Amino acid sequence: KDQYAVYGNPVKHSKSPQIHAAFAEQTGQQLHYRAHKVELGRFADAAGQFFSHGGKGLNITVPFKLDAFEFAGQLSGRARRAGAVNTLALQDDGTVYGDNTDGVGLVRDIHDNLGWQLNGRRILVLGAGGAVRGILGPLLKQGPAHVLVANRTVTKAQSVAKHFDGLGHVAGCSYEGLASGQFDLIINGTSASMSGDLPPLPHHILSNDGCAYDMMYGAEPTPFMRWAAGEAAWAVSDGLGMLVEQAAESFCIWRGVRPDTKPVIELVRQSLS
Ligand code: ATR
Repeated sequence: KDQYAVYGNPVKHSKSPQIHAAFAEQTGQQLHYRAHKVELGRFADAAGQFFSHGGKGLNITVPFKLDAFEFAGQLSGRARRAGAVNTLALQDDGTVYGDNTDGVGLVRDIHDNLGWQLNGRRILVLGAGGAVRGILGPLLKQGPAHVLVANRTVTKAQSVAKHFDGLGHVAGCSYEGLASGQFDLIINGTSASMSGDLPPLPHHILSNDGCAYDMMYGAEPTPFMRWAAGEAAWAVSDGLGMLVEQAAESFCIWRGVRPDTKPVIELVRQSLS
């Protein structure tokens, strides 16, 4: 069987093996996919060994997406723009291709699965780290009215916005700078939820039909999701659909077949509770 894996640290709780096994079964593809913990500083060695032993493709999760970017012999435009790679694929000529499927995963979940409009909308993105760099390109391609990036460290928000400003209207600010704004969609791309935290958001920044999306997920709603519900958001979602959609895009790059994500999102949702 063709070998695939997700490389990360930690990686024990990764849902990717379950997701790709479900895709393989659904599409009749013969492959094996496992989770592998890589020691810090050892990514290039580990990935080099994987491919030299015949491995076909890797997903890369925290904290190795920059290392994977460096490792790739060829890069997609969106990976280059993001400065991060979450998918490596062995090519026929033996080179390793690097892509980033996080942004399309987010857009597919928000637009196709949830049915929330992106075009023409006023979007606020919280956070300015690697996760946000991965999504801004595909998000701006959807033609929002504008995207504001708010971050605790405001200089990071500004430099991320500058990096993407060729793709649309995007600016950076601090959380204090949000007080007078209104947004149709707020996307939480900070890692604050992981420590049970919430960025300091002012009241009334969600418009009447405003939606809230947390790129994190779990059995329980995140602090950001609870905040949005308290602000009477029209709809709220966690990032489980994005996780499955980015995996589907990777699967499609590797196998040339697009799996049906809906039953797999339901499967993973059930395994959370
Ligand atoms: P990732 O790859 O997950 O994006 P990262 O690059 O370390 O990880 O970025 C984490 C993001 O979450 C940053 O935007 C960080 O804000 P700073 O740049 O100011 O550090 C944000 N973040 C983490 N914990 C936070 C908290 N408790 N409140 C607000 N923002 C937080």
